[in-house]
Amino acid sequence: MSEPLVRTEVRGRVGVARLNRPRAYNALSPELMRELLAVLRAWDQDDAIGAMVITGNEKVFAAGADVKAMSQADAVEMLRSGYIELFDGLSTIRKPLIAAVAGWALGGGLELALACDMIVAAENAVFGQPEINLGIIPGAGGTQRLARTLGKYLTMEMVLNDRRLRADEAARFGLVNRVVPTETYLDEAIALAQAIAARAPLAVRLGKEAVNFAFESTLQAGLQHERRLFYLLFATEDQTEGMRAFLEKREPHWQGR
Ligand code: HXC
Repeated sequence: MSEPLVRTEVRGRVGVARLNRPRAYNALSPELMRELLAVLRAWDQDDAIGAMVITGNEKVFAAGADVKAMSQADAVEMLRSGYIELFDGLSTIRKPLIAAVAGWALGGGLELALACDMIVAAENAVFGQPEINLGIIPGAGGTQRLARTLGKYLTMEMVLNDRRLRADEAARFGLVNRVVPTETYLDEAIALAQAIAARAPLAVRLGKEAVNFAFESTLQAGLQHERRLFYLLFATEDQTEGMRAFLEKREPHWQGR
C-alpha cells in the first residue's frame, strides 16, 4: 500500500494531522488537500475529539501548492479544478485548528497555516509568500488574511517582494501565538490543543465562531452576533454546570450539551 499523504494520530482529545510528502517538501497537491479535509471533517463530527493540530515535519510545514502540477495548467483548468476551494473547506471546521509550524511555511503552506485558528511556531520556522517569483500572486487567502493580521505595508512587501519572516519576526508582528524550541514544537502545540479540548465544547465552538465573525462584519454587527451566541450558551447544561462548579469550588464536568 502507498504511504498516506496525511498521517493521523489521536492524542487524548486531540487529532494530529501530519502532512506527509516529505520528498516534495509537503507541496500541497489536490490529493493531499482532499485527504486533509476528509480527516478534519471526520474529527469535526467525532465527540471524542476537541481540537486538531495540523503539522508537517521539522524541516518543512509546507512549501506551497505543487508547482510541478501547476506549471502545466491553464486558467480554465485552474478555475474548473476546484483546487483553491479545498482551502475554503478549512473554514467550515467548527473545532479549533492549530497549525504547528516548523521550517518552511511558504505560499499555499502559509495560507494553510493562516486558515487555522492559532499558529505555534518552532524557532526555525520561516513564513513567506514567494508566488511573485513564479509570476503569480497568493490565491488561497494570503493577501487578505496577511493584510488583516500584519497590516498593509508588511503584507505588500511579502506579496510584492518575497519578504520572508523568521519565527521571532512573525511573533513580533502578531502572526503566531508563540515561538518554541524546534525539538518540542509539536508537543507544545498538542499541549495547547489539549488544554482547549478540555474546556466546555459548546463555548469553545461558539467562541471560535464569534472571533471569526470579527473578520466578516462591522463592529455593530459583530457585537450583535456575539450577544446572540452569548445568550445561546445560557441554554446549555455546561453553563449551569460551569457556574455551579465555580460556586461550589470544584472542577466542572463538561458534557457538551
Ligand atoms: C513542488 C516542491 C515545492 C513546491 C519544493 N519542492 N517546493 N515541489 N511544489 N511548492 C520540491 C523541489 O522541487 C525538490 O524536489 C524538493 O522539494 C526540495 O526542494 P529544494 O528546492 O531542492 O530544497 P531547498 O534548496 O532546501 O529549498 C527549499 C525551498 C524551495 C526554499 C522550500 O524548495 C522553494 O523555494 N520551494 C518553492 C516555494 C514556492 O515557490 N512556493 C509557492 C508555490 S505557489 P526534487 O525532486 O527536485 O528533489 C503557491 C500558490 C498557492 O503556493 C495558490 C493557492 C493554493
